Amino acid sequence: MTLKAQLESLRDETFEKIQKVADLKELNQIRVEILGKKGPITEVLRGMKELPAEERPVVGSFANEIRDYLAQAVENRKEVLEQAALDAALEKETLDVTLPGKQTPQGSRHILSQVMEEIEDIFVGMGYQIVEGYEVEADHYNFERMNLPKDHPARDMQDTFYISDEILIRTHTSPVQARTMEKHDFSKGALRMISPGKVFRRDTDDATHSHQFHQIEGLVIDKEITMGDLKGTLEVVMKKMFGEDRNIRLRPSYFPFTEPSVEVDVSCFKCGGSGCNVCKHTGWIEILGAGMVHPDVLQMSGIDPTEYSGFAFGLGPDRVAMLRYGVNDIRSFYQNDLRFLNQFKVKE
Ligand code: PHE
Repeated sequence: MTLKAQLESLRDETFEKIQKVADLKELNQIRVEILGKKGPITEVLRGMKELPAEERPVVGSFANEIRDYLAQAVENRKEVLEQAALDAALEKETLDVTLPGKQTPQGSRHILSQVMEEIEDIFVGMGYQIVEGYEVEADHYNFERMNLPKDHPARDMQDTFYISDEILIRTHTSPVQARTMEKHDFSKGALRMISPGKVFRRDTDDATHSHQFHQIEGLVIDKEITMGDLKGTLEVVMKKMFGEDRNIRLRPSYFPFTEPSVEVDVSCFKCGGSGCNVCKHTGWIEILGAGMVHPDVLQMSGIDPTEYSGFAFGLGPDRVAMLRYGVNDIRSFYQNDLRFLNQFKVKE
């Protein structure tokens, strides 16, 4: 076989091998074997010095031609195989856009915060300012300025968590009344405020009592404020909270810092007054304590009770939320059980 014929059959065999190979690694092996330094073509080129001088250029250029041809064939095959690998990967890794995405758990405001903000909105709409008080409070503001001197028996109802003899965690939001009254500049107009926040009592925790709960204090002071203003205001608020058909009624009560004092009931929002489990078959729901600010309380805050008068009330948002959402244990609000809290999730 002539050298030329040898080269030709090497070319054809190798070409066929290249066309058949299905794997990039194998293809590379063929390339190294045939075209590499130890491959048959290099060998032919090396053996050329034994050839007669006139044949050398012919064989040399033929061998080079074959080497380029096979190198190109390897390159082409490589492209085909790479494309096939890519197609296969794309086929296998197709993204299913209909699969559900990964959810990032998102919090929302606590149900009590929602209820309190709703009540705040009602009062802000009526021109009240929102005042923040202190959870750690002086005995002076929590009790004495609210007409509960040290030996007053009504302190027992709220007797409480003391930090020292004079400092405690507040038992109601009423101390904010005193703090706001003593600062108010009446030359700029009436005082109308609410103050929402946490309060603390040493109640034994049960379904309707928690040692920590919330109140929203309300206070209005101006000239000629009457019980009529108190009743009218609370009636509007209760209608906004529980529905336009609600009525309210006032029953005599006692608080040391209001005179007269009342308990305010709202007609049952569930049965409309005919009696059901929500209103314990009375048709009425006890919703807040209120009254006309006691003249001594005004006086202690530097306000002349012969010139000014006012009303105050204390509302329990925990109770409002319990009534409205049928929650039968106040402790549920404070146990941070997501199964409970998630029921009141709002889209913000
Ligand atoms: N501070 C009273 C309580 O905690 C509620 C109240 C507030 C009553 C304002 C009258 C006026 O029970």
